Amino acid sequence: MEPVKIGLLGLGTVGGGTVNVLTRNREEIARRAGRAIAVARACARDLHKPRICPLEGIALTTDPIAVVEDPEVAIVVELIGGTGLARDLTLTAIDGGKHVVTANKALIALHGNEIFEAARSRGVMVAFEAAVAGGIPIIKAIREGLAGNRIEWIAGIINGTGNFILTEMRDKGRDFEEVLDEAQRLGYAEADPSFDVEGIDAAHKLAILAAIAFGKPLAFDMVYTEGIRQVTREDVQHAEQLGYRIKHLGIARRKEQGVELRVHPTLIPERRLIANVNGVMNALLVMADAVGPTLYYGAGAGAEPTASSVVADLVDVVRTMTTDPTHRVPHLAFQPDAISNLPMLSIDDCETAYYLRMLAEDRPGVLAEVATILGNAGISIEAVVQPEPPRGASQAKLIMLSHRVFERQMNEALAQIEALESISGKVTRIRVEQLDGD
Ligand code: HSE
Repeated sequence: MEPVKIGLLGLGTVGGGTVNVLTRNREEIARRAGRAIAVARACARDLHKPRICPLEGIALTTDPIAVVEDPEVAIVVELIGGTGLARDLTLTAIDGGKHVVTANKALIALHGNEIFEAARSRGVMVAFEAAVAGGIPIIKAIREGLAGNRIEWIAGIINGTGNFILTEMRDKGRDFEEVLDEAQRLGYAEADPSFDVEGIDAAHKLAILAAIAFGKPLAFDMVYTEGIRQVTREDVQHAEQLGYRIKHLGIARRKEQGVELRVHPTLIPERRLIANVNGVMNALLVMADAVGPTLYYGAGAGAEPTASSVVADLVDVVRTMTTDPTHRVPHLAFQPDAISNLPMLSIDDCETAYYLRMLAEDRPGVLAEVATILGNAGISIEAVVQPEPPRGASQAKLIMLSHRVFERQMNEALAQIEALESISGKVTRIRVEQLDGD
């Protein structure tokens, strides 16, 4: 089947990230969507500017209308930002019967009601997962995963730049302006960074969240908005002394009297998980009546995290265009004919670090015997602790942390250790995972 052709409006941070993700994961994306997805046309203001992505096979133009009106283009991906041209192009695309995927929170917050109405009457999709919290699939979680609940409130760190600034001020005592410059260099900040620091970007996102959580029209104008400019390093330190962290939160709460929508710096008890969300990471705590609190965490800005949501929306749209409508989302995520058997690893072939606890005779040379067995098995020891045994005891507890090894290696070493006369009973093992990205 021919690939679905998309037209990209914007080749900046998110546009470049989208091309990179579509290129690198081309095959897996096609197996999920049911068809390949190809960027046929892209528009950028300056065609000579260096880009973060390959541009082979993409017809480039400086004219966005040429992309939107290209008869080959089935889905327009709007990544230019702003609310003027972006609105016109989105409405033109819809009018031309094209689906639209956008990462533009200002566009949805301000003109979503009009855009969705146009899309409904034209029978096309408008998808906007990337508009809120970058790579976190929060729109899908609220709209689909929590569909059985009455949502009571949402509290979120929904501006990565602001969170990055507050984190750097707290952890490194850095100055506001210097960190903001860095956020701009890293591609986190909006084209107009005052949107980040004045809370407007978070207010756009909160307006969208409130609409999908409470079933109300988008109402950006009703969001009370304060930024983080007045928060000083001293405030961050004083809050810490009181057991709190300062986070820039968007809060949407449904009350009997009405809906609260507010964005402002907020002290949160430091023991709350959300108080420990740092750097450019975003997190949303959603309180719903059936499930209770659920927490969603991930990168809230940046090229590929945001592209992750753009591409997920593209897959959604392509599935509706191509697959059996009664099975729009395949049971196992991939199209049934694209499921492939991967080799499965047995536990022996799994690699982890280990915590070991054993009971050893309290005499010279025992630790050396254990260490020799581990060393001969190629197992490197990271730490050893021997708590002082009770007075008069002849045995001592030996606690060890190993570096990562295969389970098979550890099994062989433990069998030898357990066979030592100096060791009583079985060695307790608990696997250790750093969960730091490897
Ligand atoms: N400027 C935004 C942020 C980008 O920092 O969160 C993602 O919406």
